Amino acid sequence: MCFMIRDCIGLIIYGDFREMKVINQGVSQELIADVLKVCEEFYKLPMEELEKYTEEEEELSEFEPNLDQKPKLFIEKEYRPKKNGKNDKEVIFWKDTFAHCTHPTKEDRISSWPEKPKKYREVIGKYSEGVRKTRLKVLELMCEGLGLQKDHFAYELSQIKYLLINLYPKCPDPTVTAGAVEHTDGGFINMLLQELGELHVRRQKNGQWFAVEPIPSALVCINGMLLKVISNGKLESGIHRVATNSVRDRISVGCLTSPACNGECIIEPAKELLSETNPPKYKSFSCTEYLKIFFTDISEFEAALNPYKL
Ligand code: OGA
Ligand code: NI
Repeated sequence: MCFMIRDCIGLIIYGDFREMKVINQGVSQELIADVLKVCEEFYKLPMEELEKYTEEEEELSEFEPNLDQKPKLFIEKEYRPKKNGKNDKEVIFWKDTFAHCTHPTKEDRISSWPEKPKKYREVIGKYSEGVRKTRLKVLELMCEGLGLQKDHFAYELSQIKYLLINLYPKCPDPTVTAGAVEHTDGGFINMLLQELGELHVRRQKNGQWFAVEPIPSALVCINGMLLKVISNGKLESGIHRVATNSVRDRISVGCLTSPACNGECIIEPAKELLSETNPPKYKSFSCTEYLKIFFTDISEFEAALNPYKL
């Protein structure tokens, strides 16, 4: 289904409403080309430059969305086999990720972003601002659809805006590697820019996987688990995975929206949605506690929600 809605945001919605593509969304095609170029240049910087952003510890820690977090580079390529979540199969991860917070775009935060490539700060700053506006709009529309105040996500819940620049280098044998094993994202929404395919989403109805075809200038929106909680189970989280390819490096840029996890942010089904016939499916929980489970328990797609199910 494809339709146009206000402000020229075009949504292409796949059946389950767990992932959709947003086109004509206020981030121009030129800017998208600049973003991909600057990200490609970033990964081509000499190793000494990239190592400034790698962690010291041998064990790579997981992403911890945090407003004060410095940019970090997570190198997983040829790193070590990891369990493949549910399937318990070992695969080699074939992916590097450079991550940092992008909003609020305070001067002191931007000064921790890379100085090289030369245009990184300008291009990424412009892009994250454009995506921020689009995602607020998408979240507003979701609120409208659910019957919530349109600013439900506008404050504490969407405080963290996090950028993930993923590089999936071309791989001699894609059958033994994974870009990302099947998973659900932990926050509310991930707006993803992908130039090449390789992203697959699982249909809720029949469990079949399908490739999300890249459309130039479209952003793919993937629902995260917290959206499921706020909507009291109405909006499902999108199960997705990324394959590798043997032909070309693939770059994707994810923009995550999550609640602030450094304070007492409480997540719970939106009160306006609850009634005798729609009782809460989840109890209230602290976002910090939830994230700890999210990063450590991969036994099921939605393992992090299990302790809170009613
Ligand atoms: C992610 C993710 C998909 C992609 O970063 O959580 O699923 O295409 N990325 O890189
Ligand atoms: Ni994901």
